[in-house]
Amino acid sequence: MNRRTQVGIVGAGPAGLMLSHLLHLAGVDSVVLEARSRKYVEERVRAGLLEQGTVNLLNETGVGERMKRLGLVHHGIELRFGGRGHRIDLSGLTGGSTVTIYAQHEVIKDLIAARLAAGGEIVFEAGDVSIHDFDGPTPKIRYRMDRSVVELSCDFIAGCDGFRGICRPTIPAGALTTYDRIYPFAWLGILAEARPSSDELIYAYHERGFALHSMRSPEITRLYLQCAPDEDPGKWPDEKIWDELQLRLAAGAGWKLNRGVVLQKGITEMRSFVVEPMQSGTLFLAGDAAHIVPPTGAKGLNLAVADVRVLARALTDYYANGNRELLTKYSEICLRRVWKVQRFSWWMTSMLHRFGNENENAFDQRRQLAELDYVTSSRAAAQTLAENYVGLPME
Ligand code: FAD
Ligand code: PHB
Repeated sequence: MNRRTQVGIVGAGPAGLMLSHLLHLAGVDSVVLEARSRKYVEERVRAGLLEQGTVNLLNETGVGERMKRLGLVHHGIELRFGGRGHRIDLSGLTGGSTVTIYAQHEVIKDLIAARLAAGGEIVFEAGDVSIHDFDGPTPKIRYRMDRSVVELSCDFIAGCDGFRGICRPTIPAGALTTYDRIYPFAWLGILAEARPSSDELIYAYHERGFALHSMRSPEITRLYLQCAPDEDPGKWPDEKIWDELQLRLAAGAGWKLNRGVVLQKGITEMRSFVVEPMQSGTLFLAGDAAHIVPPTGAKGLNLAVADVRVLARALTDYYANGNRELLTKYSEICLRRVWKVQRFSWWMTSMLHRFGNENENAFDQRRQLAELDYVTSSRAAAQTLAENYVGLPME
């Protein structure tokens, strides 16, 4: 079976769905191909913190209604170390910007609903997706649906299929340069039916390792513990997790973490990764397909959305005015933001985690504490953290 669209999009994550939504608003056709089922992508627990610019984009493009109702707007975060909490006043330091707690899978639900309501096409459970001829003007995507093989011809392919997708590996070896850093730790994360123990997020530096207190709603907490990269979650019964979180998050006597039923438990790997360029012929990579950040800065989802904003603008300019200039510059424009976000995510990660290897010594710990002391006592340093955390402006 042969079909055609203007932009073929591989992957129904935040990047692919937002791209399809933005293109639709600009009158450009797309088809989204997703390997998993709708239920799977709508329930997959991942990130939860939206930058101001991501929130604005969801609102401005008509998909912010549920987020406005259910999202939790935060004006600050807390850094805990040395037995004390120190607040970073995000709004005060950035002229009023905030971040919003709203789960990634809720964003996914909102975008899927909007695309389907507008008559958009998302092919779930597309099998054996492969991409072809993207070195020329008529690229194709092949996939299996039921028992037939479908060939989708398009003008452009957007590779929005995440870190383990097929688009990036299909680009011939030698055409891309990879920049990679793997950290000697991971996060053990839980989602729990427990009231948040604080109104704001808490990032804790502790001699036993990093811990993060986050949330999803007034009834659901999201918590993370630094652990070994090959940690077996089976070795962490719920009580042990709660005890460890209590130890690391408590700032002095008297602070008590609310406990509850653990709904979900998982390991998140920590990695920094970028490929350059983010395009090859008529194939454009966006989101995790092109770059990964460690989650300490809460940037993965936001960076994916920033990429497709640039890509949607470039494609729209091409279809409306025949202008290829922005398409040519896609990678260059995105990478300026990508590297700043990489720097911030690496910096937050380096400041807050115990490295626990032969390279770590007493000097490094003193340096980390000095960094935390500086960032919580100097307005200039706190402002640097705040402006990155709420999201750098779009170019
Ligand atoms: P994805 O969300 O990965 O979407 C890619 C889509 O492509 C998926 O739906 C996938 O099923 C589909 N796909 C893959 N291969 C194919 C194929 N061959 N054919 C068709 N479809 C395909 N970030 C944070 O900021 N904070 C966090 O706490 C956090 N936690 C995370 C936990 C986990 C377990 C993971 C994996 C990521 C986490 N992230 C977190 C990162 C954040 O979720 C990602 O940066 C974000 O999802 C990137 O969006 P994306 O659209 O680029 O990719
Ligand atoms: C989350 O709520 O999942 C979350 C929040 C902040 C981070 C990472 C994850 O830095």
